[in-house]
Amino acid sequence: MKVLVAGGAGYIGTHTCVELIQAGYEVIIADNLCNSKMDAVYRTEQIIGQKIPFYLVNISVKSEIEPVFMENKIDGIIHFAGLKAVGESVEQPIEYYQNNLNCTLMLCEMMKKYNVKKMVFSSSATVYGDNEVPFTEDMPLLPATNPYGESKVIGERILQDFIVAHPDYAVSLLRYFNPIGAHESGLIGEDPEGIPSNLMPYISQVASGKLSKLKIFGNDYPTSDGTGVRDYIHVVDLAKGHVKAIEQLEKNAGVYIYNLGTGRGTSVLELVTTFEKVNQVKVPYQIVGRRAGDIAECYAGVEKAKNELCWAAEKNVEDMCRDTWRWQCYSIK
Ligand code: NAD
Ligand code: UD1
Repeated sequence: MKVLVAGGAGYIGTHTCVELIQAGYEVIIADNLCNSKMDAVYRTEQIIGQKIPFYLVNISVKSEIEPVFMENKIDGIIHFAGLKAVGESVEQPIEYYQNNLNCTLMLCEMMKKYNVKKMVFSSSATVYGDNEVPFTEDMPLLPATNPYGESKVIGERILQDFIVAHPDYAVSLLRYFNPIGAHESGLIGEDPEGIPSNLMPYISQVASGKLSKLKIFGNDYPTSDGTGVRDYIHVVDLAKGHVKAIEQLEKNAGVYIYNLGTGRGTSVLELVTTFEKVNQVKVPYQIVGRRAGDIAECYAGVEKAKNELCWAAEKNVEDMCRDTWRWQCYSIK
């Protein structure tokens, strides 16, 4: 089966390419490198020991993406392409809606025209909003608090409507919790431009001395130690979840929705302490006020993915901290 990995040069995309190829899939990447580098593709090729066909294209532009479908018999798509910085989405809402929604719409148009019947879509736990934990797939979604989150809610809706009109097609909506960690080779991982806004890259850059100290956003939440709780999932486990999802779509039609998380919450302070212990480094921090838009607690209900996809996360927070640090020391300049 030939899979187009849209946005495949990015953080989750590169890890998923490795798992797909190791599971026997043929992979093609389409990416405009707006938030990634060609070097990540070369490193992915180094891990798997083979070349990956790569198209430098803007997926939302028909004249750029259509040749990819004309030149290849694509059987399925894994759609990672999108902008993902929450704060930036508040400052540039139109760019976020334009890019994220037009990529999804264009891929649907190509699926219809070239008879590609399977798509796995990157959604996010952000679609649950400030719901009761654990978040389960049957919960009514709450309104998103930023354009990035809303683009995921609308993306899910577009794909559900697409399947109503094309019931012989199949779509999997994967709601990721907090992906962190890196490939154990140390060759690929997350390398955000500028000052990171997410916790793990920030911790890792403080440990390396690139940043002086971590600001912990609030210690007055109703959680075990007052700091925010999240369901951190190793990016390699997440990538394996995509292989299971595409496998499931090979045999089925319709819409499938799954949480990809561990089902376990970890507080900011627990993550900092584990990172320090596992890697024998110091992460100086300071408690500051809450960050606007943050919720106290977020973790996944994992039963549905376990029962229907036969997938469960295997790596723990120690693994995530160790692999992040290996990547930080080995590869980030
Ligand atoms: P990433 O930015 O590393 O990867 C996204 C890739 O898409 C990048 O390589 C980027 O260059 C590419 N891209 C964006 N717009 C494009 C366009 N118009 N044409 C071609 N390529 C384009 O992000 P990631 O962390 O790998 O996330 C992948 C997907 O998962 C995104 O849709 C993101 O919203 C979603 N997601 C990520 C997280 C997370 O914490 N990383 C959580 C939930 C959901
Ligand atoms: C954020 C986004 C979410 C997106 C996800 C992955 C917001 C409100 N939510 O999730 O939509 O899907 O990233 O891109 O931005 N923290 C600190 N100090 C820091 C950074 C974070 O204390 O410097 C805390 C946060 O308050 C939170 C936890 O660490 O409790 C995790 O934060 P982060 O990594 O940004 O992820 P989310 O906020 O869960």
